[in-house]
Amino acid sequence: MHKKSAYVTAISNQKGGVGKTTTAINLAASLGGLEKKTLLVDMDPQANATSGCGVYGLAADHPTVYEGLLSQASAVEIIVPTETPFLDLMPAKADLVGFEVEGLDLENRHAKLLHLLLQVRDKYDHIIIDCPPSLSLLTLNALCAAQGVLVPLQTEYYALEGLTRLTNTISRIQQSLNPTLELIGILLTMYDKRTSLSWQVEQEVVKHFESKLFQTRIPRNVRLSEAPSFGKPIIMYDICSKGAQSYIQCAHEFDFLIQQKQKEINHDRKQTTGSRDRNTYPTDTYLSSASKD
Ligand SMILES: Nc1ncnc2c1ncn2[C@@H]1O[C@H](COP(=O)(O)OP(=O)(O)OP(=O)(O)O)[C@@H](O)[C@H]1O
Ligand SMILES: [Mg+2]
Repeated sequence: MHKKSAYVTAISNQKGGVGKTTTAINLAASLGGLEKKTLLVDMDPQANATSGCGVYGLAADHPTVYEGLLSQASAVEIIVPTETPFLDLMPAKADLVGFEVEGLDLENRHAKLLHLLLQVRDKYDHIIIDCPPSLSLLTLNALCAAQGVLVPLQTEYYALEGLTRLTNTISRIQQSLNPTLELIGILLTMYDKRTSLSWQVEQEVVKHFESKLFQTRIPRNVRLSEAPSFGKPIIMYDICSKGAQSYIQCAHEFDFLIQQKQKEINHDRKQTTGSRDRNTYPTDTYLSSASKD
């Protein structure tokens, strides 16, 4: 039987409030809807991805991603199922912010999430990481654990500035810590085709990043903003809404893109190494070089 090997995607944009968490929850849930086994990882101390999946009130002694990063709990001990089919969650609590300080003294502090996710990557088709809105040690861990970065871009005036900052960050991480990291796509969020501003931002992104722009646009949709207060991804809250339909379309587009990428990766690997395990993903190259340091 074909063994799984999750493609790991960080949902990141250093700008706040652009739809990272909304995209992480709803892309992950919609991939689950396509029967792709998906793990959503909450790397933000705000823990909005955790509550947005309906996971409240974990037992006080239930470990979260914080304990995982400090090697005090295994991935399997942390992960919880959600009500959404095919979707599991690695939850966070507010204490995750402590890793920003406590993590500083750890050896290989940027690779803690990478090590944690390696324990379970053969159980999933996709791992989606929700990042906080800053370039913190938590975001650095997400970008070192990921193969791809998906950037939600709110169609508003300063959107492109944030995008330029993020592409610079990705280049720096590629050159130093994770050479296989790539920008896999830009997703326009809170898009309103009736406003000229949305249209102008879209044209700018097309001009500079056309090959990276997802065809799907996520419209501004009130059902998307209501769903988290019910602890449900949009496909469990109102599947007929425009918001749900757009994230389902996004999941199809994303999954197709990742399948193409994985075919290329497997093809390249066969060409260069012949005998290497087909389920060893490129980040392993980085991991083995990191552990030699
Ligand atoms: N397409 C949309 N239509 C309507 N509201 C949306 C949409 N996408 C996101 N929102 C709302 O916008 C706000 C910010 O979204 P979200 O929390 O996903 O952004 P974020 O980038 O994760 O923020 P942060 O940087 O604080 O982590 C939330 O209230 C969310 O419900
Ligand atoms: Mg968020």
